[in-house]
Amino acid sequence: MVKIGNIALPDFPLLLAPMEDVSDPPFRAVCKANGADLMYTEFISSEGLIRDAAKSVQKLDIFEYERPIGIQLFGSDIETMGACAEIASRANPDLIDINYGCPVKNVACRGAGAALLQDIPKMVRMTEAVVKATHLPVTVKTRLGWDENTKNILEVAERLQDIGIQALTVHGRTRVQMYKGEADWTLIGRIRENPRINIPIFGNGDIDSPEKALEYKNRYGVDGVMIGRATIGYPWIFNEIKHFVKTGEHLPAPTVADRVAVCRQHLDFSIRWKGEITGIFEMRRHYANYFKGLDNFKAYRMQLVQAGTYDELLRILDEVSEHYAEAVLA
Ligand SMILES: Cc1cc2nc3c(=O)[nH]c(=O)nc-3n(C[C@H](O)[C@H](O)[C@H](O)COP(=O)(O)O)c2cc1C
Repeated sequence: MVKIGNIALPDFPLLLAPMEDVSDPPFRAVCKANGADLMYTEFISSEGLIRDAAKSVQKLDIFEYERPIGIQLFGSDIETMGACAEIASRANPDLIDINYGCPVKNVACRGAGAALLQDIPKMVRMTEAVVKATHLPVTVKTRLGWDENTKNILEVAERLQDIGIQALTVHGRTRVQMYKGEADWTLIGRIRENPRINIPIFGNGDIDSPEKALEYKNRYGVDGVMIGRATIGYPWIFNEIKHFVKTGEHLPAPTVADRVAVCRQHLDFSIRWKGEITGIFEMRRHYANYFKGLDNFKAYRMQLVQAGTYDELLRILDEVSEHYAEAVLA
């Protein structure tokens, strides 16, 4: 068993990565149904939340069946982050996560996200403010360092543990690397080997198959892994990894009918949660992923992204089901 404060997770838990514009309640519902052990909201701007901006407040929406779930916050101002930890705690998640990893310009260049990797004393003070502001466990998600010359994650892990965080997730890249190259988990393994570290350490970056998850588990000794991009359009990856780690065997791949069914659940939830117009619009980014690998899918994809009503979408999804009934996916 792995524990984050009082939250009990199974051995080698699989975490759904926080992903802006992706890991909203409809997407989380399909990931939960397919084996995600711990999930996070998309990151929430503390500046937005303190101003009560609708976009930030909506991201606080969480549901009972999603537990355990963390709300992720980011920001550049220590006091605001503390105040937001209090606001977010009132939404009653299981934990509060702080984002010190986001590399994108309009976050990192405004002193938030990965920018804190350039000012460790401030990162420590900010974390302390969040820990003090909430009764919930606080976790951190970050990167190896700012750039190749400042991979200070070993020191960061100790300092953050000392001021009270209850788990740490590390993406095996620096801020400068953004998403380029291959994630390097060597330092993540070194944090886990440090006898001073007694909180769970989760590895993140490039997990895209059951084999890789097991290999990295064995090689780096992490307590669990967090998976991002490989879950988009493929929530089956959670149960596939679990089964492979347990038995060394592969689950049968989802059929086209399975894909249509899950895509439809996702669509239904999107519409229920956001209304028909926004729900349909925001689903458009997901179709290509759900049907990756199908020959000549482009024409159906075009139809799906152009359809304006739920009924139309159901008709196209039925057609996809029928047309590819015999298809075998790689
Ligand atoms: C579309 C997208 C949105 C993301 N949004 C967030 C976010 O809100 N908070 C965060 O901590 N990381 C965010 N990330 C980073 C992921 O959580 C994860 O660290 C990264 O994708 C590496 O993991 P992966 O190789 O399994 O995808 C995002 C990544 C993607 C691709």
